[in-house]
Amino acid sequence: MAILKGFLLALSLGASLPSALGYQLHPRDTSSNDPYPFCNPATNANCIVGGKYLVPQLDFSLENDVGDQAFRQYLPTHTFTLSQWTNGKMPERCYFWAVTADHWNPADFVIYNVTYSDCSIPFVMCYNVKAGKTASQVATEISRLPVKMRQSTSMYLVYGDAASDNPSYTGFMAALCGDGIIIGRSSGYFTTSLIHETGHVVDSHPLPGSTEFSSTSTWHNAVIQDGYAVTAYGAGSYVEDFADTGRAVLLDAIYPGGLAGFAPNNPNLTQITHQLAAFKAVAGQYYVTGGSCDTGHKFPFPTSLVTVVAPTTTTSASLGTATPYGQCGGWSTYTGPTLCGAGYSCTTLK
Ligand SMILES: *[C@@H]1O[C@H](CO)[C@@H](O)[C@H](O)[C@H]1NC(C)=O
Ligand SMILES: *[C@@H]1O[C@H](CO)[C@@H](O)[C@H](O)[C@H]1NC(C)=O
Repeated sequence: MAILKGFLLALSLGASLPSALGYQLHPRDTSSNDPYPFCNPATNANCIVGGKYLVPQLDFSLENDVGDQAFRQYLPTHTFTLSQWTNGKMPERCYFWAVTADHWNPADFVIYNVTYSDCSIPFVMCYNVKAGKTASQVATEISRLPVKMRQSTSMYLVYGDAASDNPSYTGFMAALCGDGIIIGRSSGYFTTSLIHETGHVVDSHPLPGSTEFSSTSTWHNAVIQDGYAVTAYGAGSYVEDFADTGRAVLLDAIYPGGLAGFAPNNPNLTQITHQLAAFKAVAGQYYVTGGSCDTGHKFPFPTSLVTVVAPTTTTSASLGTATPYGQCGGWSTYTGPTLCGAGYSCTTLK
């Protein structure tokens, strides 16, 4: 898999998803409030700076924690349209990962163009109908990403959840950087998780050069000068530390008073200043809100397609096809039609 940059993180992903950058939630250690295990250099050769990280920890790694709530508060959603593919095809990269690598049933995927109000080039969402969140809910979470971060991704693969038909899938959330893809169970699509994963894609693209910034001596030197990883999870590797530094940089950009306003009682923020500065110098331009996407640097729309099913017949409305201007989606309790007739697209009402 030469086009994939990165490596397998033993803690994060199962064997079904090699060569991916991963992120998985671990049970909180209630005694230390540390959501991730300490990176022990004796047992993990990837640990950086001896496994040391900023303490007290920045609380921004888990769904609904202080940081996740802050991201949701200060990152506005954007409106979007979902336009369902009816040609019976799937992007080849979606088929490769979802079906060949991860053994999901191709018939369970609905493919959408997702076009956000701040970017004219659509993203593709390969959405498994057994996902616990609706396509609209997932697209809404993605819409919070600042557009210049968001534009570095090409596709989102939204899988079913643990209780669905592929319990052997052990991944939670990952970035497949060479393909510009974010991949995972729908439960992984929450704000701070998306910011972390998008950080991996930004690490490779659209930054200049052919290697991830996190593998350069510039980044390594910044980490070594600081002597502490930005988070416990980041202490696991330069790659993960880069993605977690992105969360700190974004909070610094959007939170009133910056990172110091977010963590006012943390006396140790100076332990990560070189990493913040190095990250901002190379990627800070993507970690600001507002504006529109730079279509010249948008990750390309996937053009290599495979045929999965016969094209949807659009002449007669089936049970699954919404009537024009009828309801075509909703929250997770919605069980009505989600397909659109020819010439119509499903739009989220806000
Ligand atoms: C600041 O960092 C030092 C070095 O890791 C640590 O010993 C100290 O406890 C930290 N301060 C607080 C308030 O956690
Ligand atoms: C999706 O977007 C692509 C690229 O802009 C376009 O060619 C295609 O017609 C769109 N498909 C749908 C169903 O909207």
